[in-house]
Amino acid sequence: MDKLLIEGGIPLKGHVPISGAKNAALPLIAATLLAPGKHSFSNVPRLRDIRTMQRLLSYMGAESEHGEHFHIDTSRVHTTEAPYELVKTMRASVLVLGPLVARHRQAKVSLPGGCTIGARPINLHLKGLEQMGVEVQLEHGYVIANAERLRGATVSFDQVTVTGTENLMMAACLADGVTVLENAAREPEVVNLAEYLVKMGALIHGAGTPKITIEGVSELTPGIHTVIPDRIETGTYLVAAGITGGHLTLSPCRPDHVEAIIRKLEMAGLTIEVKDNTLDVQRTSSIHSVDMKTWPFPGFPTDMQAQFMSLMTVGDGVSLITEQIFENRFMHVLELKRLGASINLDGRSAVVRGVQSLSGAPVMATDLRASACLVLAGLAAEGVTEISRIYHLDRGYEAIERKLEAVGARIWRKQ
Ligand code: EPU
Repeated sequence: MDKLLIEGGIPLKGHVPISGAKNAALPLIAATLLAPGKHSFSNVPRLRDIRTMQRLLSYMGAESEHGEHFHIDTSRVHTTEAPYELVKTMRASVLVLGPLVARHRQAKVSLPGGCTIGARPINLHLKGLEQMGVEVQLEHGYVIANAERLRGATVSFDQVTVTGTENLMMAACLADGVTVLENAAREPEVVNLAEYLVKMGALIHGAGTPKITIEGVSELTPGIHTVIPDRIETGTYLVAAGITGGHLTLSPCRPDHVEAIIRKLEMAGLTIEVKDNTLDVQRTSSIHSVDMKTWPFPGFPTDMQAQFMSLMTVGDGVSLITEQIFENRFMHVLELKRLGASINLDGRSAVVRGVQSLSGAPVMATDLRASACLVLAGLAAEGVTEISRIYHLDRGYEAIERKLEAVGARIWRKQ
């Protein structure tokens, strides 16, 4: 299994190119199941999760090619099953459920298993589909969904769910009548998906607000679309500049998608200038310890909690970090402590007391964003940090060593 070795202590300087967003590309690829034919996307990142989604759709009969652009032809989809072997490696596979049942009136999708960041059930996806007339059964670890017709319904989510909103929005596009999604996720990835669905002929209003209205149409046609820049990758490199005391420019970015992150990092002592689609970030003072709570968009994203915690480990005081989205997203804490961080966990909060410096050590990545936080801590630590299980990192950060090396980091991969 590959490991990453990082020799810390070098301030990063230069330009980092920002890739397309994994969590925007995945639902777009799933949406191609709604309309048979050739779809084409630009700015799709080269990541393990994208390859998993490709494998899943190819199992169903779609043909795809990831060159300069991502092309996928869904004309010959012949099965509506998403098998356990593929779903277990990536929970986002559940995004095929809505499109399959909407277009084929049936789907058999493996239930995603446990996850290191929380229970992550899909009850809200299933409840919403049932409200739309889908008969849902759970058998042998699979969700079996059947429907004579999908009918529009008013679905009020008990909790904001990103993929739940995406699944139901896609299903509603081909339902009879009007669907209203209340307490819907407002994440930019939901908006990026809605924009593509509209290009395909869907009638959607309100994406990006808590109330999305979808008027069903009888069919959709394939189109062309661009994936938005990855706001979590952007935030991760903002922290990389801060934690190493460096100076980076990042582009192409969507500053409007990272406002909460920018505000929090400015409070922590980073200077961030926004110019069109470029962010210029440097640290000109010590790192200030500030409190942070995760929220659904437009709040501070849970996918940046671990990386922000890395920064706070070397803050000038005490920071209280509260995780409000996932109940178990603190697996990185014990690993950060191996690097010399002072952190106490109290339920859904972590009390982080800043230390003078971190010191390199062997650590283990437990999930995607936890891996990123260990890379950041390793970049700041004295000596060498060896991170194992970095396959997690490869799921969501395109060419991370190359990007970091290009701005001065001493980082290399060991097989
Ligand atoms: N929830 C339920 N029932 C459901 C759905 C969600 O109880 O049916 C709960 C979850 O357990 C969680 C909360 O609602 O406590 C929010 O979960 P959400 O459904 O929004 O998460 P998701 O859609 O499974 C997406 C991202 C995650 C990101 C979360 C929150 C994708 C493919 N994944 O997951 O990204 O953390 O939204 O923003 O879009 C990552 O990229 O590292 C990642 C984990």
